[in-house]
Amino acid sequence: MRPLRRLRRTPALREAFAETRLAPADLVLPIFVQEGTSEPQPVASMPGVSRLPVKHAVRAAREAYDAGVRAVLLFGVPSRKDPLGLVADARNGVAQDAITAIKDDTPLAVFSDLCLCAYTDHGHCGVLSTDGGIDLPQTLQRYGEIAVAQARAGADVVAPSGRMDGQVRAIRSALDAAGFADVAILSYGAKFASAFYGPFREAAASAPSHGDRRSHQLPPANRREALAQMRADVDEGADAVMVKPALAYLDVVHAARQALDVPIAAYAVSGEYAAFRAAAQNGWLDGPAVAREALTSIKRAGADLVIAYDAIEVALALGETR
Ligand code: PBG
Repeated sequence: MRPLRRLRRTPALREAFAETRLAPADLVLPIFVQEGTSEPQPVASMPGVSRLPVKHAVRAAREAYDAGVRAVLLFGVPSRKDPLGLVADARNGVAQDAITAIKDDTPLAVFSDLCLCAYTDHGHCGVLSTDGGIDLPQTLQRYGEIAVAQARAGADVVAPSGRMDGQVRAIRSALDAAGFADVAILSYGAKFASAFYGPFREAAASAPSHGDRRSHQLPPANRREALAQMRADVDEGADAVMVKPALAYLDVVHAARQALDVPIAAYAVSGEYAAFRAAAQNGWLDGPAVAREALTSIKRAGADLVIAYDAIEVALALGETR
């Protein structure tokens, strides 16, 4: 038997024979943009992450670009909420302002999260009907309007995360009708109903005031259903699809890579980030090493893009080892 150790002997050999390389341009930085504040507001459950006023968001985006990251994913956090989430597509809505400011200041690709949960007073991802369920036609209508507002602000990619049936088709036709045929759709295709989103809901103040999201997000046990859902999104016109969360769903990332020929993004979500950060703060894990290993594993599973809250730090560390 050939000793497989032979190619692992020195750092240069190990790097030369690496099968998977994580590069800064593989990473996407999520940014929470807060309306109505002039100072960053730290998110307690996500050490190192803050909700940023537009000016600071631009600075973070610039830092990401300088570190080699090529895309950011924006989440607006409005100061006013209402049943229809009107700030989501307001001309001077906080996400729209941030999109325009970042496009003006950097050559980054700007992805814009497209959902209602941070904008509605009830915290659900859609418009509610009188019985308290999701009113699908009204919700899809709102998604189309938000997509057009984000496109008008300069978004390169809209990323619908509500996981409502027919959302990709509705958004595609709204964008095309408004003259934004060049704006792409990254669909949160396999978005599982996950407990790993807890810290995000603090960051975006988007926890549902009653009920949960299990009627539209995917059951964690179902890989086949996830593939069917991603295929449906591609058939409706998604240019790329996302798997989310990432680490607990690497088999889904891998299966998606095998089954589909669109780019696959995987989202290392707030709970993944928070868990590692908390352990690192306690001295129980080597934070930077774990972050890099985890993100590399997501790429190894088949993701083309990895969305990660520590994108800047990881990108800088990758630069140093080159
Ligand atoms: C909103 C949305 C969520 C995330 C991204 N977009 C949360 C949810 O469904 O409650 C989660 C991201 C994260 O946890 O980092 N639809």
